[in-house]
Amino acid sequence: MKEFLIAPSILSADFARLGEDIAKVLASGADVIHFDVMDNHYVPNLTVGSIVCKSLRNYGILAPIDVHLMVKPVDHLAIAFAKAGATSISFHPEATKDIAYTLALIKNESCKVGLVFNPNTDLSYLNNIKIMDKLDIILLMSVNPGFSGQSFIPTTLNTLYQVRKLIDKGDYDIRLGVDGGINITNIYKVAKAGADMFVAGSAIFKQPNYKTVIEMMRCELVKVLSPFIKDTILRKNK
Ligand code: DX5
Ligand code: ZN
Repeated sequence: MKEFLIAPSILSADFARLGEDIAKVLASGADVIHFDVMDNHYVPNLTVGSIVCKSLRNYGILAPIDVHLMVKPVDHLAIAFAKAGATSISFHPEATKDIAYTLALIKNESCKVGLVFNPNTDLSYLNNIKIMDKLDIILLMSVNPGFSGQSFIPTTLNTLYQVRKLIDKGDYDIRLGVDGGINITNIYKVAKAGADMFVAGSAIFKQPNYKTVIEMMRCELVKVLSPFIKDTILRKNK
């Protein structure tokens, strides 16, 4: 069983002092920085490009940067982010022509790679063993992508449960992330449904004390840990 990762999304950070704000959230206990990239085409919003990722590395951010590409097409920008210091790069399968090609392209740049599923995206891509074998991350959107501050869509819990079963059954080394509307009230049930990486934007950055929120999230996660380990062991022994 992997540890739980808390991944604040830059979308809710202060873009006027991004490096400082990210350093602060990492010092407050965050594990990973979730870097949302929007192109005003795949989603109706626009954020920032690879130059900002590179600037964060130059500023001294050493933590993993998990890039979430909400862009179409994917390949060109994926390479740019890999070269700019991304640790992992995830994209939406319907945004690229050839999923296997894009996965290989990212891997070839020595980055971890993930697929992201919108609430209504068909999960059947995951029935393909050749795709599953390549993945380091599966990220389930619990809101429709494009904006922070939306409410968690409850049907995501069932999807998480299904994908967790798939990962465990195949004994894949894949992290299962959830993105959108995560907060201290729902993180427990999201973890119980099988997630092990939690992207949270507004729940962290809109609070005055990041450390308090992150600690409260971890307290919720600890509650889930023991039964979850038992459950995983039981399922593996079946
Ligand atoms: C939405 C982004 C999310 C978003 C999360 O398209 O992918 O990462 O920033 O923000 P909250 O946690 O506020 O829903
Ligand atoms: Zn995201």
